[in-house]
Amino acid sequence: MKWLFIGDIVGSFGRIMVAKHLPKLKESLGLDFVIANAENASHGKGLMRKHYEELLASGIDVMTLGNHYNAKGEIRDYLDQTVSLVRPLNLKHSYPGVGTLVLKVQNQTIRVTNILGQAFMNEEVQNPFDALQNVIEKEPPTNLHIVDFHAEATGEKYAMGYAFSGKITALFGTHTHVQTNDLRLLDQTTLFISDVGMTGPYNGILGVKKENIIQRLWKQEKTVYELAEDGETVLSAIFVETNQQGLPVTFKTILLTDKVK
Ligand SMILES: [Fe+2]
Repeated sequence: MKWLFIGDIVGSFGRIMVAKHLPKLKESLGLDFVIANAENASHGKGLMRKHYEELLASGIDVMTLGNHYNAKGEIRDYLDQTVSLVRPLNLKHSYPGVGTLVLKVQNQTIRVTNILGQAFMNEEVQNPFDALQNVIEKEPPTNLHIVDFHAEATGEKYAMGYAFSGKITALFGTHTHVQTNDLRLLDQTTLFISDVGMTGPYNGILGVKKENIIQRLWKQEKTVYELAEDGETVLSAIFVETNQQGLPVTFKTILLTDKVK
């Protein structure tokens, strides 16, 4: 199977970038399915229903979320009606939707799980290791299991990757919006990268206008975060080909830039 995992889609430019480039990538790479993190797709925080539907129409099969899962309150109303959206598995309180789901593609089953990290994150969550262990032990086995580990710290990401190497197909870090240069197999089995990177405004800081961030960090001023809007946009993703046994045999990072305004 050939598949793509797209890193955090940020705002309208991220969505436009996906709509423009995903059809070409599907054709050139011969993709069987596409997963994307969409927790920042609506104005940089959260996912509104209309944008969820827009991204489905662009060709994404399953979307994952992250710490901004609840940033647009309407998601509570539509999450249970979706079959292609995964919110964090290890929330402490009850919340609509599911943290793991199974997609069927050509008689193959693909489990997609979304988990939040604990290190340097604000959300109170259940232990991410226990949460993933629980899914592996209790849910029916699938041909592939792809985990979006939405977390800040590279150390925590590696700990999760190694703790579950051989038990899952891939563990991809998301959330930091910067693609790392460490895509590799852990223990020759599980594909890992600390962070897939972002799909959104390129000439800002993690998608936000650089002036907003510099002012806040340098002058300690409270600033409103606005998305960088010059149109220069990046698409960050991982391409993977898995064999009959579900092992990744070909894989590469993708980092495309384009002016979409
Ligand atoms: Fe995030």
